[in-house]
Amino acid sequence: MDRKLPNKFGPWVIGAEFFNRDAEVERLTQLLDEKNNILLVAPRRIGKTSLVRETFRRMDERDKDYPVFVDVQDCRSPEDVIVALSLAVQPHKRLALKVKEAFAAIWTGFRDTVESVGSVEILELRFREGIAGDWKAKARKIVQSLAEADRPIAICLDELPVMLNRLVTGTGEASKNRAEAEIFLSWLRATLTAHPEKIRWIICGSIGLEPILARHNLSFTVGHLRPFHLPPWTRETADACLRGLAASEGQPWPEESRRALLDKLVHFVPHHLQMYFGHVMDECRMRRTETPSALDVERVWTTHMLSTRGHAELADYEERLLRVLEESTVDLALALLTEAAVVGRLTWNAAQLCVASHQLEEPVKALRDVLRVLDHDGYLEKTGDAGDWVFVSPLIRDWWRSRFGTGYIPAGSEA
Ligand SMILES: Nc1ncnc2c1ncn2[C@@H]1O[C@H](COP(=O)(O)OP(=O)(O)O)[C@@H](O)[C@H]1O
Ligand SMILES: [Mg+2]
Repeated sequence: MDRKLPNKFGPWVIGAEFFNRDAEVERLTQLLDEKNNILLVAPRRIGKTSLVRETFRRMDERDKDYPVFVDVQDCRSPEDVIVALSLAVQPHKRLALKVKEAFAAIWTGFRDTVESVGSVEILELRFREGIAGDWKAKARKIVQSLAEADRPIAICLDELPVMLNRLVTGTGEASKNRAEAEIFLSWLRATLTAHPEKIRWIICGSIGLEPILARHNLSFTVGHLRPFHLPPWTRETADACLRGLAASEGQPWPEESRRALLDKLVHFVPHHLQMYFGHVMDECRMRRTETPSALDVERVWTTHMLSTRGHAELADYEERLLRVLEESTVDLALALLTEAAVVGRLTWNAAQLCVASHQLEEPVKALRDVLRVLDHDGYLEKTGDAGDWVFVSPLIRDWWRSRFGTGYIPAGSEA
């Protein structure tokens, strides 16, 4: 009997909605127990947030430490990050107390204003007022105070690369932004190693830290973090997941329908699998059939996954890219991806032709930088002896083709 798995896609999943990856949860827990700081960078939707949240949920259950999950995606400044951290510890009474003590020490007005605090919004306002000014010294004090708690703490800063990227490409003057980013990074580097016996960190993100840092010559920061690899699911796991999803709907799928779905995806990003399954079931409901045929599954690939319906879910593959790339190279990146999507591969020759038509100041460097980002962030991978680039995921490839491919004339074709 397959374990029933509710179909959910979009937000992170934990508990009964979390499938497989027990080995990863155990390994991550072990690394934290061994006092490692971890770097978990993997492509979007692969299940990073779910993995960390589920690991933290199980750590909470064993009741030996304080796991603290901080989503810094919307943070715009170092102060925002400290406020987010101060708020994130609140569910742990002891840590909440420690943070309040630290704020009371750095700001005499804090205790009077906070005694009566009931709502999170007001607490956030107070933290914001308290951290203003010399944030660096205050942040040090807060983390120091947390380190004095009675148990070890694991802190995850989720989507830190997004925050950092925003910081360096902010609206202000470029040199000021860079200086601010540098101060934040040097604080971060010192903080990550300041309390090795008490605080372990997970830096988590979908866009690579390295390309951002390299672009701004800030690469020295993350060297000592231990990388944690989170691969997509294997075909067996993906098939087991499908069976679980179907069991939860009360109706097993025929084997050939499951095979059709797996043959389309090939690269098993959990979110893509859940999304495809969900769309197929919607279609079944519309047609008042209980289970899909292989043909139904194939049809839904085009009608739902690649259409505007799939668009909302997949559009951020495009948006995210715009965030990490230098503005002058965005068009080149789009052209390279479109070439790879339409032709099925990007040869070195075609890449050269694409660059030549973009009139960039440093064409070779631009091409190298763009390909590094596309590789690092899981869009393209090198294949075969010739070293051509192909899309890692057929879904993203086909989606990209249907979005940008119309009317595209491959590089090198006779005009
Ligand atoms: N372990 C899992 N079991 C089932 N579904 C998962 C799992 N991990 C991820 N997913 C699917 O992927 C989606 C995105 O997961 P999330 O953890 O937010 O990914 P990431 O943080 O890597 O972008 C979830 O809504 C869910 O549909
Ligand atoms: Mg996430």
